[in-house]
Amino acid sequence: MTFSVKPFSLKDAPALIERLLPVQKLSAEAYKEQMSNHGKTLTALGSYWKGRKPLILNKACILGCLLPATDNPVQDLAIFEKLMAMDDESFVARLKRTIRPKEILENLYIACITDYFTVEPKSILPISSPIDWSMPEYNQVEISWRMDIDLMERRRLEAQLLPHTNYRDLVEQVYRPEEVSETVHAHIWSAVNTHLGTHAKSFPDLIEQLGIMRYGHRPSIADTFCGSGQIPFEAARLGCDVYASDLNPVACMLTWGAFNIVGASSASRAEFKKQQQILFQNVHSELDSLEIETDGNGWRAKTFLYCFEVRCPQTGWLVPLIPSLMISRGKRVIAQLVPDLTRKRYEIRIVFNATQKQLESAARGTISREGRFGDAYLLHKVDGYIYKTKISTLRGDYQRQDGTIGNKLRLWDRHDFKSRPDDIFQERLYAIHWMRPKRHAKGFDYEFRSINNDDLERERKVDDFIAKHLADWQAKGWLPDMRIEPGGPPRYEGLNLIRGRGWTYWHHLFNPRQLLVNGLIAKHANTAGLRLGASQAANWNSKLSTWDGSPGVDTTHQTFYNQAINTFFTYGTRSTFALVKPVTPDYKSYPIDKQRVRVECKSSNELSGQFDLFITDPPYGDAVKYEEILDFFIAWLRTNVPIEFAKWTWDSRRSLAIKGEDEDFRRGMVSAYKRMTECMSENGMQVVMFTHQSGSIWADMANIVWASGLQVTAAWYVVTETDSFVREGTFIKGTVLLILRRRQGTQKITRDDLAWEIQEEVQKQIEALAGLNQDAKNLHRDENVFEDADIQMAGYAAALRVLTRYAVIDGRDMTTEASRPRVIGEITFVDGLIAFAVDTANQCLVPKGILKCHWDRLIGTERFYIKMLDLESRGAKTLDNYQNFAKAFKVRDFKHLLSSLKANDARLKSAVEFGRADMGVGSELHQSVLRAVLYAVMELVKDVDGKDVLAHLRKV
Ligand SMILES: C[S@@+](CC[C@H](N)C(=O)[O-])C[C@H]1O[C@@H](n2cnc3c(N)ncnc32)[C@H](O)[C@@H]1O
Repeated sequence: MTFSVKPFSLKDAPALIERLLPVQKLSAEAYKEQMSNHGKTLTALGSYWKGRKPLILNKACILGCLLPATDNPVQDLAIFEKLMAMDDESFVARLKRTIRPKEILENLYIACITDYFTVEPKSILPISSPIDWSMPEYNQVEISWRMDIDLMERRRLEAQLLPHTNYRDLVEQVYRPEEVSETVHAHIWSAVNTHLGTHAKSFPDLIEQLGIMRYGHRPSIADTFCGSGQIPFEAARLGCDVYASDLNPVACMLTWGAFNIVGASSASRAEFKKQQQILFQNVHSELDSLEIETDGNGWRAKTFLYCFEVRCPQTGWLVPLIPSLMISRGKRVIAQLVPDLTRKRYEIRIVFNATQKQLESAARGTISREGRFGDAYLLHKVDGYIYKTKISTLRGDYQRQDGTIGNKLRLWDRHDFKSRPDDIFQERLYAIHWMRPKRHAKGFDYEFRSINNDDLERERKVDDFIAKHLADWQAKGWLPDMRIEPGGPPRYEGLNLIRGRGWTYWHHLFNPRQLLVNGLIAKHANTAGLRLGASQAANWNSKLSTWDGSPGVDTTHQTFYNQAINTFFTYGTRSTFALVKPVTPDYKSYPIDKQRVRVECKSSNELSGQFDLFITDPPYGDAVKYEEILDFFIAWLRTNVPIEFAKWTWDSRRSLAIKGEDEDFRRGMVSAYKRMTECMSENGMQVVMFTHQSGSIWADMANIVWASGLQVTAAWYVVTETDSFVREGTFIKGTVLLILRRRQGTQKITRDDLAWEIQEEVQKQIEALAGLNQDAKNLHRDENVFEDADIQMAGYAAALRVLTRYAVIDGRDMTTEASRPRVIGEITFVDGLIAFAVDTANQCLVPKGILKCHWDRLIGTERFYIKMLDLESRGAKTLDNYQNFAKAFKVRDFKHLLSSLKANDARLKSAVEFGRADMGVGSELHQSVLRAVLYAVMELVKDVDGKDVLAHLRKV
């Protein structure tokens, strides 16, 4: 791509993301993408990957780094929104229905209809609109758009009929931009080119031209923590040169899949589709000859339901461990335990058309959870007596001298694939979900059945097969033979497997039927692309796949429905039929230029080369233990490796993984970011994303930035997580974007001067964003571009921007200071500076209508309550807002000030909702002015005489 005239240089121009980012709209879009689950572009490649960064957020970061911030911020914002498909005209293309010309003529005033439309027959209609179509003579009128009308003009008119609602609600009703990527941007290029001095007709054109203006070439982007490839894929789709790497080979495989499956050309996709079909033809032909999934009467199994079984020490009975006897709520099917007095065990009978009473009692099975820690108990009834035994007692748990817990479970060995007869835990098939093609219609009939002798015979066949082939299939790489790493405290994902079940090798997480089916899939998944499907077979078909009998569901969940390895006492096993969809899905298709992308499996500090932009999402804190949970897949994939993945190390290399939040974490991060800075072009930039989780993030990040020779230029907060991802007890909801450049020179400053500079910069930043809010409001819908929490974040960023600009503060070299190991509990020089900077930023957040002199006299909890009241009055209700401001105002425990803690519908307690304990001695509000005011309001609501209320108030 060349320019016909010399392009003007953006080499030293600030980037748009350093000045503005429409975080509210972006949050709404990111939230929608996260909520769409399986509709997400890359999810089908590996639904087990947790913590995917939304593509829309990645796109915003990439464009935000390449677009310039000009001296016309309102127009910068408008153009950015067009590129992000956030403008009204793009919403016309995103609507799930077409706006008809007749609607336009019914609703808008148009002076001369034929300026825009062709009308047949012409004679009947008036010249101008609006038109009332109820007149009978209009029945026959045909109206269509004139072919010569400019698309922008057409969308501008159509946009006037968009629903009148706020942005978040509008986003709910429309497609995501990527779902209509072919058409959504068609109207933007003329305005974009006029503003930027480019001549682009597509994103790759624009990216290349902006790259040349800024760096002299097409921009190169690197992500050395690429995970599932969300950032690199979006960069490739936009047209950048992309480098992706990750320490973990499963991450590299998913990124490879994004480039080479979702990003494949249509010809390669057609070839791949054939490979997918052949895979299951081969699996079926081998399996059908064994006759283990059919009943010989035209029925084929869909799912087999298994439970654990254990001998009750009090009665000597063998009891199935089933937390709920419900099998299908929608179909009213339950399991019933029928005592067999002679054999001291239970027959499990399937009951159809269960009565309401039976359905209700089926909710309780033979396991109950009790006590503060939800300890599991076995419960069963013999001769009218209920016998109750703690599961830990059944396992024989005991404490060793060193404090660790041991038990009497036999540790399985490499050759085991099912429990031995004298093991504490046994496993048992207790129901089968059968299916058969309908006789006279499309689709299937389904039925649940109890287990009969034929089923048990088929189970024996499967056991014999695995007994005969296990070692051979392991040697051939079709089945795993990798040990489960014992790992270490405090929260090890594999510990449950070893301590709770006695499983010591990864293949122990699969029963014989699962080993057989998944093994056959692994055997025939003989190309790189098909290996991604094989990993999904393991995910959807393990002893950790729970059965879900909710109405309309009746299927098993994936092993990684959340980010942990969870064990259960019941599970479902899929037949090959039920695995076709997850193993060979219809991947989405967005062809990209393969010449421009590269993926490598290496540690982030082994990086080499030079790149213009780094956009990374490092493993911040302990949210997901990738280096532990991905062993589940490495065990299946590490042998028989296709040539495309052969250079990668098929090991999680835990010692090299950046993890935790302690000193090792900081050291790992500094070494990674230092290396990136060394490999960054002179005017390069970085965006670091991290999930906002712990209160010490600012100090941590400031240390890392300083020690890596970088400087903060902006920071933004975007809501990215869905409610379901939020784990109870933590409120991870948003992502902080930190924008960084290389620190220039060795500027020095004293702490006193720093105070003034920070104050000035924070004030300037807050005013700039508040001003932009107002300008944009005047131009667009009556909505804020930035809410108070965004402005607060920008205030922090401004403080960090000033701080990290300096190499020496009060005579101390900040790189050395920031690299100094922390002593637990110590408040370092950097901590002190950050606390000071953040405090300064918070001082600037006085709610409208409150005098600064009054505000200064309030304690943190009072400020928090008043600030949140102010926000609530303007419609804000997301919990993360409360969390952020509680931190800002140093409120110890903000939860007791709230009457609702719902992620998207949080609310403060009103005066009447506060109890004595909330405001009594020991509470943060005790003896505060706010307490007195709330008390007075409460009295007024309760009709206490106004004079008395005033008298009480005066006493304070
Ligand atoms: C938060 S995830 C990235 C998620 C990714 N942005 C996505 O959307 O899927 C962090 C990644 O860092 C990787 N990682 C951890 N330590 C690493 C190291 N020392 N070098 C390279 N990658 C590392 C992990 O394997 C993990 O894939």
